[in-house]
Amino acid sequence: MPDDLLFSTRELLIGTATASLQIEGGDRNNNWYDWASVPGNIKDGSTPLRATDHWNRWREDTALMADLGLQVYRMSLEWSRIEPRPGEFDREAIDRYREEISAIRAAGIQPLVSLHHFSHPSWFQGLGGWTSSAAPDIFLRFVDVVPALSDLVTEWATINEPNVYAVQAHLFGETPPGNRSWSAVRSTLRHMAIAHCRAYRRIHELQSDAKVGFAHHARVFAPLNPRNPLHRALSLFNSAMFQDQLADAMLGGRFPKVLGAKPDDITPGKYYDYLGINYYSRTAVKGIEDGTFPESPINNLGWEIYPEGLVQVARELHSRYPAPIWVTENGTADAADAFRSRYIHDHLKAIVESGLPFERYYHWCFVDNWEWAEGEVPRFGIVENNYETQQRTVRDSGWFLSQVIADGGVSQ
Ligand code: NOJ
Repeated sequence: MPDDLLFSTRELLIGTATASLQIEGGDRNNNWYDWASVPGNIKDGSTPLRATDHWNRWREDTALMADLGLQVYRMSLEWSRIEPRPGEFDREAIDRYREEISAIRAAGIQPLVSLHHFSHPSWFQGLGGWTSSAAPDIFLRFVDVVPALSDLVTEWATINEPNVYAVQAHLFGETPPGNRSWSAVRSTLRHMAIAHCRAYRRIHELQSDAKVGFAHHARVFAPLNPRNPLHRALSLFNSAMFQDQLADAMLGGRFPKVLGAKPDDITPGKYYDYLGINYYSRTAVKGIEDGTFPESPINNLGWEIYPEGLVQVARELHSRYPAPIWVTENGTADAADAFRSRYIHDHLKAIVESGLPFERYYHWCFVDNWEWAEGEVPRFGIVENNYETQQRTVRDSGWFLSQVIADGGVSQ
């Protein structure tokens, strides 16, 4: 272990994150396959059917994670595989996940498992998806899969990025089911918050040593011109509407007016064991169409690279909802792997110098993957994937992350 460390990451467990639909391939029974099958919905015309074929290549991928020395791994279960028809659970799919998670654990990697990561069964969408008031009960039935895995998994994330999901799917119309309706956004967020709070309690009933949270997408909203009162006001408004009020409902069981009256069974309290934060970027606010600050470094998708923002959002959230902080996602689209190592370095440095109780860092992503409406083009992986041959090649940034883990920090 080098003694010339510039900064130490020994307080952190470090690894990577993925989501089932983005890597597995092969499943047609979900909302995203249906959506991607309509021409024009996905930028490059791809569907999640191919992805990285992880469903068949998980052994090789797990071995690669072990080679890289990853300490933790966040993954998700594909609900449509586990419950292909309402109320019918597929034992084979569960066993397949059991085999994979057992191998992950045998490699010394601690799994964190998400239950909903943007995709769900087509039948659930057919029933109205998250806009339906039946959604929390339907999701809770799926949560009962926990005992089938509880000897292997103790760490759970109920729902990934409810705010991003609600806005993209129900306001911008960019993702399934392609709604453009404020009331659909509100009902989606309401039902996701109810589902999360109930799932939090349910998982604890099913498993006494469980750690449960959700992956909250938090970004910095900053006025493009700090002297412009409209920019300032809109920044505060966006922050409150997009992330803070939702955090109150999901983490604290306190429903803001906009989400409607709280159901009686959800009392104000603590609905998290860790504070899960997905952090990517900062938005420069100037009106309806937001952007980035001129001169700021950006990634291949035009997102600003702003490492100190991770600490800003974590500090804010942690002051209201104290708990160990798990960075459930952080990463960047960088096809040439030109700035990913720097990105990792700068975010880790910000984390360790913050004085906040960060415990985990899950880099997004382990491997290049199907980036939703953007298709196969953005490259988020520390491992490159050739989609034609499905060959994996560790990028320099992957070896960099691996070295950080091995050294317990960054050396000269
Ligand atoms: C967050 C989402 O959870 C993940 O699915 C997505 O690929 C990354 N952001 C990058 O956009």
